[in-house]
Amino acid sequence: QPYETILVERTGRTAVLTLNRPKALNALNLQVMNEVVAATAELDRDPDIGCIVITGSPKAFAAGADIKEMRPQSYMDMYLSDWFTAWDRLGDLRTPTVAAVAGHALGGGCELAMLCDILLAADTAVFGQPEIKLGVIPGIGGSQRLTRAVGKAKAMDLCLTGRTMDATEAERAGLVSRIVPAADLLTEARAVAEKVAAMSAPVAMMAKEAVNRAFETTLAEGVRFERRLFHAVFATEDQKEGMAAFVEKRGAEFRHR
Ligand code: HXC
Repeated sequence: QPYETILVERTGRTAVLTLNRPKALNALNLQVMNEVVAATAELDRDPDIGCIVITGSPKAFAAGADIKEMRPQSYMDMYLSDWFTAWDRLGDLRTPTVAAVAGHALGGGCELAMLCDILLAADTAVFGQPEIKLGVIPGIGGSQRLTRAVGKAKAMDLCLTGRTMDATEAERAGLVSRIVPAADLLTEARAVAEKVAAMSAPVAMMAKEAVNRAFETTLAEGVRFERRLFHAVFATEDQKEGMAAFVEKRGAEFRHR
């Protein structure tokens, strides 16, 4: 593999990307960022991949951006290199992504998880935006995505006090879709990914695009956007196949997957 800080494993139509800097609890330095962005872009272009899982270790999904790397940077360093901007590309992937989170998902780690489409948490998961304790604020979208995910009350609480929330609180708040026992996390994440990857790829992309639009626009415009895509799916062979399979009481064999 061409990467040093991540592992990429493909099984059928799914891929699992594992953050692999165990000595630093998967702290997200620029190398990790560049490798994750490059690997996911390559998987996104591959028509044989229908869903991407991003995970860490049992102890840490990621304990944040790399504090030791950031420490000496000046404003000019940060501004001119547009520090962290590459992470935004994860949000532009068309292929659905699943974050499988165990252990610490702090700062940039929480932000990385929130950049994914489906967020599965092990019962050991801990989420937070503790940047304020370091004299900084979230820099990979945390103040925006956390607020949209859990609302102002908890987002302010987490961002201003730096406290963390456990998996139960995160699920109740709407940050994670469900909690699974830590030992089953990867099995469950792969199962979810296989389920998504078995759908029509273009239709899954449209579903993702439609949901994401809700964060960018008004309700009326969002519904109009959905309606356009809804009409468009009737131009796919997969709509014909999906509905034929239902009527014929068999499983659908989508062509575009
Ligand atoms: C660099 C890190 C790191 C990080 C842990 N390590 N987190 N290195 N950046 N974010 C390193 C430690 O220095 C240590 O290496 C090793 O990983 C193990 O960490 P310990 O602290 O010894 O482990 P433990 O006692 O189990 O505590 C785990 C922890 C703690 C609670 C997660 O490591 C921690 O609080 N980490 C920082 C969490 C954080 O503040 N994240 C936000 C980062 S800022 P050595 O070699 O020293 O033993 C961020 C900002 C985004 O994400 C945008 C802002 C600009």
